[in-house]
Amino acid sequence: PRSISRLLSCPGTIAASVGNEEQSSVVAEAGIEDKTLQKKFSEVQKERREQAQRTVLIHCPNNINEKKFLKYLSQHGPVNNHFFYESFGLFAVVEFCQKDSIKSLQNGTHTPTQSTEAAIPFKSRFLNLRLKNPSSQVSGQPFVQTTNQSPPSSKKLFELLIYAESIEEQLNTLLKAFQLTEENIRLRHLTCSLIEDIAAAYFPSCVIRPFGSSVNTFGKLGCDLDMFLDLDETGKLDVHKNTGNFFMEFQVKNVPSERIATQKILSVIGECLDNFGPGCVGVQKILNARCPLVRFSHQGSGFQCDLTANNSIALKSSELLYIYGSLDSRVRALVFSVRCWARAHSLTSSIPGAWITNFSLTVMVIFFLQRRSPPILPTLDSLKSIADAEDRCILEGNNCTFIQDVNKIQPSGNTETLELLIKEFFEYFGNFAFNKNSINIRQGREQNKPDSSPLYIQNPFQTSLNISKNVSQNQLQKFVELARDSAWILEQEDTNQPFSSSRQPWGLAALLLPPGSGHTSLSRKKKKKPMSEKVKGLLASIKSNSPDSSTDTSGK
Ligand code: CTP
Ligand code: MG
Repeated sequence: PRSISRLLSCPGTIAASVGNEEQSSVVAEAGIEDKTLQKKFSEVQKERREQAQRTVLIHCPNNINEKKFLKYLSQHGPVNNHFFYESFGLFAVVEFCQKDSIKSLQNGTHTPTQSTEAAIPFKSRFLNLRLKNPSSQVSGQPFVQTTNQSPPSSKKLFELLIYAESIEEQLNTLLKAFQLTEENIRLRHLTCSLIEDIAAAYFPSCVIRPFGSSVNTFGKLGCDLDMFLDLDETGKLDVHKNTGNFFMEFQVKNVPSERIATQKILSVIGECLDNFGPGCVGVQKILNARCPLVRFSHQGSGFQCDLTANNSIALKSSELLYIYGSLDSRVRALVFSVRCWARAHSLTSSIPGAWITNFSLTVMVIFFLQRRSPPILPTLDSLKSIADAEDRCILEGNNCTFIQDVNKIQPSGNTETLELLIKEFFEYFGNFAFNKNSINIRQGREQNKPDSSPLYIQNPFQTSLNISKNVSQNQLQKFVELARDSAWILEQEDTNQPFSSSRQPWGLAALLLPPGSGHTSLSRKKKKKPMSEKVKGLLASIKSNSPDSSTDTSGK
């Protein structure tokens, strides 16, 4: 209701009920409250981008008075939405109703002058609010209510899980605790928009688009922010002015390959971010990777950012995951739990290497749900077969067509519970013939592996690529063993009884316990990994962390 009034007060803006914990991020992303009217991915992205362009990020003094702050800002036009959060200081995200307000605000903003250092006068939308009388500045707790941008601690998570009433409720609780909040989604789009302003210094009509878990409905609080620089002009050309016998081309510089062009562009943008990007620190140019990227931290938003160029296939695969995540409420609940489980057992890592990735795990869950009877998720080929003419999409010669409107997809008749599904997931992959079969969500069935990679998961759009090419036999073996262990734990009657053993970890909580602590399963008792295994794993990761193999498929 609050969101509706906001919507009415500011025409053309997204209705979003900030702070409503009950609302799933799918719905929040879609910006609507009625699930039967899901927006298309491209519409959501367009609205979020436009919203971000009317937004500023302000570092505030801790003792700020919210009312006075808003009054001060409204001099420049009505404020549609705002929230505060803490991250090495107090920050405010302020969304105006109109873009013009930002110009007005910037016109009254000073470039700081310091006696010892010199400022690079780059005028961005990342601002610092100062009190005229600094002596009244106090440190300590902020005076305003702040929103949370980080995931719960494992202690908090265990508490939440232990007090749930069923495994089903545990999975949904975990989802709610980890999913991106409305505020966090806004902050992600705002960060991309701020980076876009910097890249626009070179390429005025460029777009920085977020992709990956920030937008595919599978993002966990604290996950990295993947973005790419889109310089593609196709679709923006004014065809009406292109009649007659001629057409015009820009004079350009040529380089030997697309890859070199990408490297050159990312190189100068990396320099830009490093030299005058407010808040951009630790800029690393990783240009020799298969998919060249610039990695940096954005202070203020606190995001670890990966910037690539022309990565439209990865954006399309984010859209596909968005469709799968929006189709059935069980999908996200299952994926979040599997991802947390993998993280808890160090199957995934923030360091690139021979580990399985969250992206691969998500595709494995989708595949598993396609294999249920009746299927919970449709195959990619069937999403392609019901596509309309407007859905047609060919990228770099790959057919990436599938239906974009979730509302046109028939819901599944399968009514299996999350408790059954998680157990069956571990059974299924604990016994999967990884040595001979590959995972393929396009057809929704196993196929013979085309090469000897330990884990072969076909890239849904670049079908000759394996998205888990980096995974070593050791890591796959570890995954299989843990999956078997977990299936075994879930089969034990007593661990699945919420109230049986005086608030001992049960159900999902028992699965998330790190090896060696508390709960002991059969195989864990008999095979506690010797230290050398860990060392081996690290060495393997360092080896495969050479620039050329760390990001070996199109992702980054
Ligand atoms: N991607 C890909 N092929 C890969 C790796 C990644 O196509 N081998 C694409 C996927 O669209 C993926 C995106 O790049 O979603 C971002 O990759 P990554 O950050 O590794 O995965 P996320 O899905 O963002 O998950 P995480 O939360 O771990 O960042
Ligand atoms: Mg990511």
